[in-house]
Amino acid sequence: MERIREGAASIGVGGGVFYNPKMGKLRDISILLLRAAKIRKAKLLDATAATGIRGIRYALEAGVVDTTMLDINSAAYRNAKANARLNRVKANVLGKSLQDFAGSAQRAFDAIDLDPFGSPAPLVYDALRLSKDGTILMVTATDTATLCGAEGSACQRIYGAKPIHNELCHEGGVRILLNFIARNAGQFNFGIEPLLSIADMHYMRVFVRLHRGAREATASVGSGGFVAYCSRCHNFAYKKGVVAQPDTTCNNCGARMQAYGPMWLGALKDAKLVSEMAALSSKYGEGTKRFVTLLNEELDIPFFYSVPKATSYLKMGSIPIDKVVNALGKRHSVSRTHFEKDVIKTTAGIGDVLAAVAKAK
Ligand SMILES: C[S@@+](CC[C@H](N)C(=O)[O-])C[C@H]1O[C@@H](n2cnc3c(N)ncnc32)[C@H](O)[C@@H]1O
Ligand SMILES: [Zn+2]
Repeated sequence: MERIREGAASIGVGGGVFYNPKMGKLRDISILLLRAAKIRKAKLLDATAATGIRGIRYALEAGVVDTTMLDINSAAYRNAKANARLNRVKANVLGKSLQDFAGSAQRAFDAIDLDPFGSPAPLVYDALRLSKDGTILMVTATDTATLCGAEGSACQRIYGAKPIHNELCHEGGVRILLNFIARNAGQFNFGIEPLLSIADMHYMRVFVRLHRGAREATASVGSGGFVAYCSRCHNFAYKKGVVAQPDTTCNNCGARMQAYGPMWLGALKDAKLVSEMAALSSKYGEGTKRFVTLLNEELDIPFFYSVPKATSYLKMGSIPIDKVVNALGKRHSVSRTHFEKDVIKTTAGIGDVLAAVAKAK
């Protein structure tokens, strides 16, 4: 058994139990989020614990006082139990599935972490059974080929959405996942408030706060809707609503646009919370700090324009992206985004973006 240090935890890793050191940055971000959310004396469920690294770090670093960890795999269960003891974290560690646990648990949790292999879809319903007003759900998806549309039929089957495998697909996948959570939460009379939404490396991760109430639930289901995407000039449009009908003719080039969704079209983050996370990130590693800064500076509006797609549509050679950012920045809000390189989030429409790209030669 190898001994690993991560954050304030020291754990034993081995025996085939899953541990990916590259996900340390994402665990840092989850801790920063719970710290910024000022969860006090919280009761947390790490529903897919593996080594127990998350549950242990939340207890040591994020002020969680009541930790429950589950794993369906018996080697993982034993490993998480031993690691909790090693770190003097008093945790209730159980070798059972989330589904079994949700049927027998007596009380709801303040925060629930879902980090399964592949799709979290089969676990969301049971996490909601263990939730209450104010619960923070933290959900990882590694079925990114499905959510990004490389496996389109799986996305329709699992998430009830039609994806497009295009330059928008990482942000689109995050929005499809959020809409899936909102639709499930609606059954329990919960609305969702996204606190932070990420697509990075091979995963997506969303953090949402649940708000109990029929009005909240109806409003958040109504924040879903459809996107229309133009594969000729890379324009997009969107409309919220359960039976939304966005225009399907591109207002830039006149081509017929493709339907994309349904997906969440509301905010992807709580700006105040993410700025607090950035302020707290100084003690973390460079990778974590840089990533949180980017998340903090990003405009929270649906989608972006790809500069390479725009130059190829305009039949131009490549141009420096900063020139386009500066030109647009004189009249519009503009930011980069963690979702994609060489793209621009902006309040400008495609006409202004194409004009700025054309001038940046
Ligand atoms: C990707 S690993 C978790 C990694 C861990 N959260 C970390 O940060 O290192 C997924 C774990 O979830 C467990 N698992 C899968 N389905 C489960 C279920 N329905 N209930 C509880 N645990 C489950 C697996 O046995 C596996 O150990
Ligand atoms: Zn078009």
